[in-house]
Amino acid sequence: MKVLVSGGAGYIGSHTVRELLARGHQVVILDTLELGNKQSLLGAPLIQGDTADGALLDKIFTAEKPDAVMHFAAYKAPGESMSQPAKYFRNNVSGTLSLLEAMLRHDCRYFVFSSSCAVFGTPKDLPVTEDAPFGPESVYGETKLMVETMLRWFDKTTNLRSVSLRYFNASGASLDNKIGEDWTVTGNLVPLVMKAAIGKTEAVNVFGTDYPTKDGTAIRDYIHVVDLAVAHVKAIERVAETNKSTDYNLGTGVGSTVKEVVDAAKRISGVDFKVNLAPRRPGDPIAIWADSSKAQRELDWKPQYGLEEIISTAWRWHSTHPNGYDSEQ
Ligand SMILES: NC(=O)c1ccc[n+]([C@@H]2O[C@H](COP(=O)([O-])OP(=O)(O)OC[C@H]3O[C@@H](n4cnc5c(N)ncnc54)[C@H](O)[C@@H]3O)[C@@H](O)[C@H]2O)c1
Repeated sequence: MKVLVSGGAGYIGSHTVRELLARGHQVVILDTLELGNKQSLLGAPLIQGDTADGALLDKIFTAEKPDAVMHFAAYKAPGESMSQPAKYFRNNVSGTLSLLEAMLRHDCRYFVFSSSCAVFGTPKDLPVTEDAPFGPESVYGETKLMVETMLRWFDKTTNLRSVSLRYFNASGASLDNKIGEDWTVTGNLVPLVMKAAIGKTEAVNVFGTDYPTKDGTAIRDYIHVVDLAVAHVKAIERVAETNKSTDYNLGTGVGSTVKEVVDAAKRISGVDFKVNLAPRRPGDPIAIWADSSKAQRELDWKPQYGLEEIISTAWRWHSTHPNGYDSEQ
């Protein structure tokens, strides 16, 4: 298949581009490079541009004739989305609609969407299945749910078939240390911990130490970025084969506390970095982890890596790329 990958120069997109190529697919990448890096593509073809640019999309669809689209392009910081909601609605919702409309104009029928566990907010039951009620608690989560809703309606009214992949906490770096997360601006725990371990920041903040969990800190489901990349390739192949839209929760099914992540990072890096214990942040769920059995069953996919590999690959990447991709210039 030829796959147009929007946001392919970002963290998860670039790992998925490699997986697509490894499985014999062709790729065309569309990225503004606002938050992505050309170096992460290792030479794969890039068109610099915005999903909101309908004229550019027409040119790309006419020239490249992709069979499918994987859509990573979006802003992803829940905190920022609460202070700049319009920015998130514009890029994450309008930008996606522009891409979907171009697909319809050019009869491109298969779409894989980067959704998020943020569509669920604080779950009532654990682990979180695909049937759990939606309840986003940030504008960011709402934008993901709005796109999922659009996709359900396009499925009913057009011939566009889609898979929404709801990632839990994507983390880690490629196993060959060629690509990883450019952490210059990030709110995610693993890169923040790494930033402290390589001495780029004084300490890591742990928000909430009095949760009803085994060590008082919050629980998340950390999934290796390579496992996510593999799931994407399987999802695009399956939707083209079955012509049926669906959704999958993608996590490992294992919850790790913030303290466990910090302890693993200290042990693997050998650096005893400083940790600030801070109060809970409003809107942070106490605990969330995925039930990925639907993806395991239908995609014949199983996460291969756990917290140990996540932290080891992240440490290898960050310690050898202390300035992200800028380290390579
Ligand atoms: N990282 C996570 O843990 C996580 C969890 C759940 C969902 N997601 C979703 O997965 C997707 C990818 O996340 P990531 O961590 O790789 O983020 P990222 O910021 O590294 O990658 C996003 C890429 O999209 C590009 N981009 C943004 N808006 C664009 C536009 N309008 N047109 C073209 N390019 C544009 C950026 O330049 C960047 O390269 C996002 O949609 C994010 O919301 C991420």
